[in-house]
Amino acid sequence: MPDLPGMEHPEPKLRMQSIHKSFTVGGKREPVLAGVDLAVEDGEFVSIIGPSGCGKSTLLNIIAGLDQPASGSVSLDGGQDQQRLGRVGYMLQKDLLLPWRTVLDNAILGLELKGVSRRQARKQALQLTESFGLSGFEDQYPFALSGGMRQRAAFLRTMLLDQELVLLDEPFGALDALTRIQMQEWLLNLWDSMKSTIVLITHDVDEAILVSDRVYVLTSRPGKVKMVLDVDLPRPRDFEAITSLQFTSLKAKLLGALREETVKNGAETWP
Ligand SMILES: Nc1ncnc2c1ncn2[C@@H]1O[C@H](COP(=O)(O)OP(=O)(O)O)[C@@H](O)[C@H]1O
Ligand SMILES: [Mg+2]
Repeated sequence: MPDLPGMEHPEPKLRMQSIHKSFTVGGKREPVLAGVDLAVEDGEFVSIIGPSGCGKSTLLNIIAGLDQPASGSVSLDGGQDQQRLGRVGYMLQKDLLLPWRTVLDNAILGLELKGVSRRQARKQALQLTESFGLSGFEDQYPFALSGGMRQRAAFLRTMLLDQELVLLDEPFGALDALTRIQMQEWLLNLWDSMKSTIVLITHDVDEAILVSDRVYVLTSRPGKVKMVLDVDLPRPRDFEAITSLQFTSLKAKLLGALREETVKNGAETWP
């Protein structure tokens, strides 16, 4: 049915239009993002993939409200220029756990900063440690945990804040291959049960396809959207999906687009 006046679609959770951003390096103005358009619906899982240095982390900083675009608009639920800081959960590549706090006390850090009492925050966190694979480890310190567990503790801290939109910047980049696969499956289950809206940056093509409803491929710097790939693989998914023909054909499209960008001028290393 065609769109009629008054029958517009509801606003997406996140919409970015024509985002431009430059940085001055050594006195020279370098464009980093050159007109990025992107939309994420409520409850969607969207990934962003692109050559190293193309502006992916800069884009997430802008979504989170930690940085401002030179031009273009960002809206959450259709509202422009709203304060995004505090409405968006953001997990950086490095887990950034405080070494002097236990797993539980690391997990509640965000809640404490928001003014929730320690007792209440701990109660909330304890309800989730099991689904985050951390039960029995609440009183351990980060150094005693595996990489996957540290990452899940950082996830728990991000998810406890119960934000409308969660941004993940290469959360599994530092993990070994097997742990990464386990974490991807775990994240899929978590997302299924928590119904959150997620934007994930990754340089792992399999990961992008496995978890996403849609994948945005960015060009090399200055980044803009090169391709949007709909991933219509049935859900729930697990790692076995990567052997299917449908998966292989999506992967070929993604790799083709990425290869074009990395052989093009100025691209840094891939991944
Ligand atoms: N605060 C900053 N000041 C100057 N240059 C920056 C800053 N942040 C990022 N850059 C540069 O912008 C480019 C894109 O960075 P980034 O968004 O981190 O890329 P990606 O995450 O895609 O690897 C890089 O060349 C980086 O060096
Ligand atoms: Mg980055």
